[in-house]
Amino acid sequence: MSTRRQFLGRSAAVLASSSLLGGSWQALAAAASEGTMLKRTIPSSGETVPAIGMGTSGSFEITPGGPEYEALKEVLRRFFDGGATLIDTAPTYSNAEDILGPLLAEAKLRPKAFIATKLSGVVGRDKGLAQFQKTLKSLRTDKVELLQVHNLGDWKTQLALARELKQQGKVKYTGITHYLDSAHDQLADVVQETKPDFLQINYSVTNRGAEQRLFPMAKDLGIAVLANRNFNDGKLFNQVKDKQLPGWAQEVGVTSWAQMFLKFCLSHEAVTAVIPATGKPDRQSDNLRAGYGPLLSAAQKKELIGLFG
Ligand SMILES: NC(=O)c1ccc[n+]([C@@H]2O[C@H](COP(=O)([O-])OP(=O)(O)OC[C@H]3O[C@@H](n4cnc5c(N)ncnc54)[C@H](OP(=O)(O)O)[C@@H]3O)[C@@H](O)[C@H]2O)c1
Repeated sequence: MSTRRQFLGRSAAVLASSSLLGGSWQALAAAASEGTMLKRTIPSSGETVPAIGMGTSGSFEITPGGPEYEALKEVLRRFFDGGATLIDTAPTYSNAEDILGPLLAEAKLRPKAFIATKLSGVVGRDKGLAQFQKTLKSLRTDKVELLQVHNLGDWKTQLALARELKQQGKVKYTGITHYLDSAHDQLADVVQETKPDFLQINYSVTNRGAEQRLFPMAKDLGIAVLANRNFNDGKLFNQVKDKQLPGWAQEVGVTSWAQMFLKFCLSHEAVTAVIPATGKPDRQSDNLRAGYGPLLSAAQKKELIGLFG
């Protein structure tokens, strides 16, 4: 049986000899040989973040103290042990922030975390500010790394507030999010006008609309991209119930469909990080593995797209 070091070493060798891979292969080859997770750069600052993040919608909306809470302790432990840091949440994911905050605090993981939260479903500066203050309390912190305007709601006022909080040092980066194909054009117009540090949008092998305007714009304007719904809200797993992985999966270090779906997303150079959501430790380990080894070539991506029609 091969060790993780051997796996990573092979990955680096495959990368170094491949001419099919995109511009980030040198960075990945170097990362793989050192045994670290793929990282991508936030253009507005030059800071790097691990390319595998995680979401909290659904997975962190649980009852404290029960078995799901215990499982989340392990989900977080594996996440940070695996070299990841970026966690996406929102005050409107019911109690997710009230679960995440204490879990990070109890495990003393807050200093390692890159927390991305949102101004969500509020109208007006006062309501936005009150929501942010509640968020800080729930997350047991005095600042967050990324504050995003959720689903373009009241975006002019809320983005101005996020920028004000950035000036005050309570927020490191600002962003704008959505999750529907039908909102891509509006999101692109707002991103073009306001140039936030981050945009967040849905992207998966079956939902590739972001490739049209948003990703090229992000590259041109120097905006980091968080890709959400990488499993199309879990629906992609139904589509592969009876499907074998392609024969070349091993060449890119992929042993599951989850890894393949995440690698597909990361193989677009505009994507800074993916944020798959799970409350199950083994699935977390599975997802993290997509941050190691070669990315997919253009031909491999094309073949995958073909498989899903
Ligand atoms: N507008 C926005 O800003 C917006 C909108 C949507 C999502 N988001 C963010 O993006 C995150 C991800 O989106 P999402 O949760 O909607 O969808 P997703 O990540 O595409 O899918 C989540 C589903 O995939 C399953 N799953 C996760 N890892 C798996 C694995 N390795 N193998 C098999 N199944 C696996 C989960 O089940 P289990 O939990 O049972 O493992 C869950 O049902 C959210 O949590 C949220 O943080 C933001």
